[in-house]
Amino acid sequence: MKYRKFSDLDWNVSEIGLGCWQIGWCWGDVEDNDARELLKKSLDQGINFFDTSDLYGDGRSEKFLAELIKSTSEKIYVTTKLGRRVRGTNYLKGYKHEHMEEFIDRSLTNLGVDCIDLVQLHCPPSEIISRKDTYEKMDELVQKGKVAHYGVSVHTISDAMKAIQFPNVKSIQLVFNIFRQKPAEAFLKEAKKKNIGVIARGPLASGLLTGEINKETKFAENDHRSYNIKGEHFDVGDTFSGVNFEKGLNAVEKLKDLLPDNFSLTDLALKWILMHKEVSVVIPGAINKSQVHMNSKASDQIDISSLLPKINSIYDDLIKPDVHNRW
Ligand SMILES: NC(=O)c1ccc[n+]([C@@H]2O[C@H](COP(=O)([O-])OP(=O)(O)OC[C@H]3O[C@@H](n4cnc5c(N)ncnc54)[C@H](OP(=O)(O)O)[C@@H]3O)[C@@H](O)[C@H]2O)c1
Repeated sequence: MKYRKFSDLDWNVSEIGLGCWQIGWCWGDVEDNDARELLKKSLDQGINFFDTSDLYGDGRSEKFLAELIKSTSEKIYVTTKLGRRVRGTNYLKGYKHEHMEEFIDRSLTNLGVDCIDLVQLHCPPSEIISRKDTYEKMDELVQKGKVAHYGVSVHTISDAMKAIQFPNVKSIQLVFNIFRQKPAEAFLKEAKKKNIGVIARGPLASGLLTGEINKETKFAENDHRSYNIKGEHFDVGDTFSGVNFEKGLNAVEKLKDLLPDNFSLTDLALKWILMHKEVSVVIPGAINKSQVHMNSKASDQIDISSLLPKINSIYDDLIKPDVHNRW
């Protein structure tokens, strides 16, 4: 496992981290035992960066991470998110400032820590991202010692660009993968200039970019790949990265033709992201320990610079027209 700097912090984070949405909910039934095993496997593989949210399983994912933190003497970096837990019709309620501290207190309890390494605002609406008082409230929580640092998880490049204008924002999380290449146009350069930690989520486009999914694949009812295909429950950009399923499968077949020896498609997908040095950490999700094992191995794979033009032209031809200007 290789490690990277994160923002201007004294952190050395594994370039492959772990996305912990899967051990909360929305991905079929991931049993407690599998969750614990895959977390343990992550540590064994040198992973030291874990991304969760108070929303995932309404705290279930955070509570598994509390066990992980207790189980090791190594420093691991755990980032959670806030703001999306209050749902229903009054969606914005989760971002009212008076609730922020209440959310943080609950996450502190769930994670079993006195201070959270990094808290990300969980894809707030654009107007909240643009408001100074959003960050003033976060500054207050830092001063109180409940939060060490904060960042913003976003849906769009335009939100990312707005958020990094605020001086204490340390990180941006966004979808970045072979099927969602827009961050490479201007955002990554801007982030580097400002020393922003970049967390690449959805790196496998919800599994499409592993090559293991085909037209016959059936997803469980409680898997968002069944119930959020048109964005019925949350932004469709987080289900198959917003890519049309059939078009995605066609692109996957073309990508498979490019694989170097000893590369899986998963390796190619993760390595493509890692070729962008401005990225601090890639956070593939996993439903069992063998996926964690496979994903962490991508860090050791060889450079694929020579393949980038071919990979990117598959994106240009088959995917870009549908997604590029949407997020
Ligand atoms: N708004 C936000 O801030 C936000 C939104 C979305 C995600 N995230 C974060 O980003 C993380 C990762 O992104 P993601 O959840 O969208 O998914 P992803 O990493 O693109 O895909 C993960 C899925 O791919 C499949 N998979 C993983 N490794 C595999 C392997 N080696 N071989 C075959 N299949 C494999 C698994 O599903 P199957 O085996 O069931 O196919 C797994 O659940 C999340 O866990 C979460 O922490 C944040």
